[in-house]
Amino acid sequence: MSKGVFITLEGPDGCGKSTQSRLLADALATAGYDVVRTFEPGGTSIGRRVREMILDTKSSGMCGITEFLLYAADRAQDVHEVIMPALAAGRIVIGDRFFDSSIAYQGYGLGMDIEAVRAVNCIATRGLVPDLTVLLDIDPATGVARATGNRDADRIERRKLEFHAAVRRAYLQMAEGEPQRFRVVGVGDRSIDQVHAAVRRAVFEFLGPGPGPSCVRGGSQPGAREV
Ligand SMILES: Nc1ncnc2c1ncn2[C@@H]1O[C@H](COP(=O)(O)OP(=O)(O)O)[C@@H](O)[C@H]1O
Ligand SMILES: [Mg+2]
Repeated sequence: MSKGVFITLEGPDGCGKSTQSRLLADALATAGYDVVRTFEPGGTSIGRRVREMILDTKSSGMCGITEFLLYAADRAQDVHEVIMPALAAGRIVIGDRFFDSSIAYQGYGLGMDIEAVRAVNCIATRGLVPDLTVLLDIDPATGVARATGNRDADRIERRKLEFHAAVRRAYLQMAEGEPQRFRVVGVGDRSIDQVHAAVRRAVFEFLGPGPGPSCVRGGSQPGAREV
């Protein structure tokens, strides 16, 4: 059994996961928690090679199943190399995406069988489920514009806006289905600092009174809601 706490950040491209992951890690470290950050695809050196394969515009012939299995392979390596050891050591792990991304993108977005997606993920993660998942909800047009910024879009980002809208709907549906695990933070036109304040509030409320072996786990779990 893991002793640490596994927190994931989820949401469509450009919603601010990577930005908020950094800010949250700093806030938790400042509060005295022992924090590890990871991300996918590419949180390990093996995963980085997988990530290149997935995102490369030269991979345009890649079928959805190949893409799905590559994400799962990257995740399996991250669980093995980074997440499980850190949790076993009692640390807080912040994951920038985890299996919910596969369910949203490959399951709902690309239409793969949701139960099959869950089953493969269960193998990849060895059954590990995040303790808390913060969903950063953003409208797809804003998200894609933020994600691409001033560089060329990668292969995933180029997909049509309807795909990104389906991903957003999927995330919201998943949050509704698992209110104990999910907290939804609406990004809208809130600044990075405003979103951080909402994320921090949700996470600290979940963690409870403060760092230390007896109080790292078991904060109040008021259910998924907009914060
Ligand atoms: N609340 C916000 N308001 C304005 N810009 C933001 C906000 N959050 C993130 N950004 C910017 O949007 C871009 C994408 O953010 P990022 O954290 O990389 O998103 P993700 O990891 O979810 O794709 C970055 O340039 C980031 O600085
Ligand atoms: Mg990112």
